[in-house]
Amino acid sequence: MGENKGKEVTKLQELTYELKVSDAMTKNVVTTAPYVTMAELREILRTHRISGTPVLENGKLVGVVSLEDLINALADGELDVTVGEKMVRDVNTLYADEHLVHAVGQFARFNFGRFPVIDRKGQLVGILTQGDIMRALLRELEVDYHTEEIRRYRASHIFQDIIADETALVFGYHVIGKDFNAAGKASSSLKITLNRLGIPPPVIRRVAVAAYEAEMNLVIYTAGGEIVAEVQPDRVRIEAIDSGPGIPDIEQAMQPGYSTAPEWVREMGFGAGMGLINIKSCSDVMRLDSTVDVGTHLEIVIYTGEGASL
Ligand SMILES: Nc1ncnc2c1ncn2[C@@H]1O[C@H](COP(=O)(O)OP(=O)(O)OP(=O)(O)O)[C@@H](O)[C@H]1O
Ligand SMILES: [Mg+2]
Repeated sequence: MGENKGKEVTKLQELTYELKVSDAMTKNVVTTAPYVTMAELREILRTHRISGTPVLENGKLVGVVSLEDLINALADGELDVTVGEKMVRDVNTLYADEHLVHAVGQFARFNFGRFPVIDRKGQLVGILTQGDIMRALLRELEVDYHTEEIRRYRASHIFQDIIADETALVFGYHVIGKDFNAAGKASSSLKITLNRLGIPPPVIRRVAVAAYEAEMNLVIYTAGGEIVAEVQPDRVRIEAIDSGPGIPDIEQAMQPGYSTAPEWVREMGFGAGMGLINIKSCSDVMRLDSTVDVGTHLEIVIYTGEGASL
């Protein structure tokens, strides 16, 4: 499991030894051919919202082409050049009947976004991204939780809040301004989800505090916004985004004790002016951008200390 630093084997890691690549891969693969132009490739990637495809010639895998190759072609003004000229020919593949743990290792070793999956006859049968792995593990965890009769989460729910994929799992929560009944729900849902993913509890506690403070600021100071959490093998990234009123002086807002909370909010126990400070102390990276009348964008990153392992 890559850099596992002698940590406990999590449920997720255990599952990677049980599941096969074929259990996780996407079977409907969008492919391209060597004669397709980079301009056409751009449309294919855009319409399917993917970041790369295997390249087939007469049914045989001859390469892979990715967004990166497209960006390079764009930079060089080579949009009429063919995929065949820009693709990477030396393709690393996975076998459908291999265990996922091997796939996880390959993702850690090579910095690829995806691996084409072939059967033992060399036929392309699927494609695997880190997002596919995470989804398969989640699905399996779901089954597990049910058999163990721990119904912490409704069966379908975990997939509902996944709003994007590729190499990360992205969970999105809508926060309604001034709604103190729902306040805290986004951060507690996120906490449950991270728990299920096997993220170490000390990391979850930091994420939960930071997300809670960010959520409360959305509730108290804005008309509402979004909390988006992106979970990668080595980090959790959280963004809190709103569309106003904005913070006129970020340095001042970051001062411990500074608060513009009105009296009625203080009566509810908020407004100590410690939220942003707490967020900062919980996070490894914190960025706060704000424009008055436009909105505020808070981004925090918390490393899970899991290196390249899941
Ligand atoms: N998303 C936001 N939009 C507009 N203003 C904000 C936002 N987040 C924070 N602020 C401003 O920054 C100030 C400091 O925020 P911080 O979270 O540190 O403290 P607080 O919310 O006032 O009190 P506490 O978080 O301790 O309950 C707030 O009083 C508010 O003026
Ligand atoms: Mg606050």
